[in-house]
Amino acid sequence: MKWHARAARLCHNTPLEGGGVGDAHQVEGDNTNSDWWGWETRPGSTAAEPSGVAIDHVRRYPDDIALLASLGLGVYRFGVEWSRIEPEEGTFDQHWLDHYRSMVETVRGHSMVPMVTLNHFTLPRWVADRGGWLSPDIPRLFERYCRTVAAHLGDGVDRYTTINEPGVVAFGGYLGVLGFPPGIRSVDAWYRSIENLRNAHVLARAAVKEARPEAKVGATHSMAEWEANAAGRPMMEYMRRQMGDVFLDVCGDDDYIGVQMYTRIRIDLPRALAPGAWLMARSGWLRRLALPRVLGAQMAHADRVAGGNPTDMGYEYRPQVIADGISLRGYVHWSAFDNFEWALGYRMHFGLIEVDRATQERLVKPSARFLGELARTGTFEV
Ligand code: BGC
Repeated sequence: MKWHARAARLCHNTPLEGGGVGDAHQVEGDNTNSDWWGWETRPGSTAAEPSGVAIDHVRRYPDDIALLASLGLGVYRFGVEWSRIEPEEGTFDQHWLDHYRSMVETVRGHSMVPMVTLNHFTLPRWVADRGGWLSPDIPRLFERYCRTVAAHLGDGVDRYTTINEPGVVAFGGYLGVLGFPPGIRSVDAWYRSIENLRNAHVLARAAVKEARPEAKVGATHSMAEWEANAAGRPMMEYMRRQMGDVFLDVCGDDDYIGVQMYTRIRIDLPRALAPGAWLMARSGWLRRLALPRVLGAQMAHADRVAGGNPTDMGYEYRPQVIADGISLRGYVHWSAFDNFEWALGYRMHFGLIEVDRATQERLVKPSARFLGELARTGTFEV
């Protein structure tokens, strides 16, 4: 009964939609023209293993989508891959545009709602060669690609995410904390990538709206519940701003805010460091010296203080946010299938559906049935 009440409260605006997510590079396989592929396979790569054939979703998507639908999930959020669609500057590949159109039709054919992510961490190699998110051209290049995709998918898609977790792209690739390409470690680069990501989102949103005015367009943001002691507070506020608020600032006109919130991050610094921390958070040269090392280590550590019961990633479970009664319109689970977890390779298993990578067999987990039931009925029994 308790859970009926909780579910009903979550759904007070619209019926809760439940679904699963699959990002292109993490599930498709053989995404050879992307910067990530080059990063994983280069000599001396720091990635745990290459993505390889992933879960072969590129060929198995009809069965995969049918499986998600059979479980009762109402939404399938998936990525389209820029490096396939525009393998060379200005050349759009009809085969891949049609491939994604066919994915959309498959989702709709099962009475599910497709939600398309236009960029999820990967870039075409030719964009990376021009500087990736540091290139002054990237907002316009991304805008053109998004316009092309939205025009091609037409009335098949009413929900778009422009960029998945822009804060992670900037922080991971340009401040160099997460082992993401291009592996730059520079506060100036971090700032420039943020600016380009912000501009790219705004241009992409307008381009999609122009091609498909009915579409709901937003971005999805990696957020955390930030906490700090008194000495750590200036640093925490600075980081919260740089990793999240700078993007939310340009999302005021979006149709929705995608919240990807996994844990809390605590920045506790010794009281003796308080003046230094204040300065560090404000002064350019101190940031340059200290941030990539001190803060990266501090955050990684804080993320792993999980009270003895961590998630696969070592995060603390923080479901408490739900108790605030937020207007939750839908829950799309990361991830639909076990898949390629970037620098960590295949050792994470967040999927609703397990994948045996030797045989590519799909095995439904109890969590998939649970979410499917919730999606179908809006309530669930315990
Ligand atoms: C990212 C995914 C990633 C997951 C787990 C998500 O929010 O967008 O690409 O696999 O977090 O780390």
